[in-house]
Amino acid sequence: MRRRDFLTVAVGNMGLLSMGGFAIAQKEKTLEKREKEIEPLLQELEATRRQFQNVPRTDGQFLNILVKISRSKHILEVGTSNGYSAIWLCLALEETDGHLTTIEIDPERVRLAKQNLKRAGLEHRVTFLEGDAHKIVPNLKSQFDFVFLDADKGREHDYFAYLYPQKLRLGAIVAVHNAIRMRQAMQRYLDMISAHNEFDTVLVSTTLDDGFAVSYWRRRK
Ligand SMILES: C[S@@+](CC[C@H](N)C(=O)[O-])C[C@H]1O[C@@H](n2cnc3c(N)ncnc32)[C@H](O)[C@@H]1O
Repeated sequence: MRRRDFLTVAVGNMGLLSMGGFAIAQKEKTLEKREKEIEPLLQELEATRRQFQNVPRTDGQFLNILVKISRSKHILEVGTSNGYSAIWLCLALEETDGHLTTIEIDPERVRLAKQNLKRAGLEHRVTFLEGDAHKIVPNLKSQFDFVFLDADKGREHDYFAYLYPQKLRLGAIVAVHNAIRMRQAMQRYLDMISAHNEFDTVLVSTTLDDGFAVSYWRRRK
């Protein structure tokens, strides 16, 4: 290769690299802008948190970061309520370019959740399923890499049985909310998952009074 040709290739690659860097920086800027834009909506929803049984803000942030760290793209949420935690999940999916399927039994809450995700500009990231999750989950055809269980407490064992192993991707994360405050109701699930030889499980709290059981499906050798 003549010197001039080599320089052309090198400069060409540098151009490509810096274009790639520019694209990533643009995406981060867009995400940051989106998060700032929906801040008033988040605060509005936080004012009615108890009525709609939403996760505390720091738990929403924890879910968001967990999805981003695990690069999850296929999320199942059981227990949508008015869509507060779904907003945090979908914000993360903007970065990983994924999709959320979320299930809620109360039609009025589904209506509100659709409205809130639309207001957040995130409706393209989510599919809402209305009805009893015990009837819906066993019939889902997709496989998920992230599952957030936050519905009828004490039934986590059943949800896990519907999902594992066929509807989970290897390396999946299963996060169960209220695993500290409602530990007794969930004892059967917590005992099973912590003794499971394919899952690593930890209890995580962002608020000190409650938290998640987070389980990771280890990749088998
Ligand atoms: C704790 S709230 C969910 C809060 C939501 N994840 C958030 O943080 O914004 C639990 C929701 O699960 C719903 N739910 C309870 N049992 C259900 C079932 N069997 N199928 C579907 N949804 C159910 C309730 O109607 C309620 O809205």
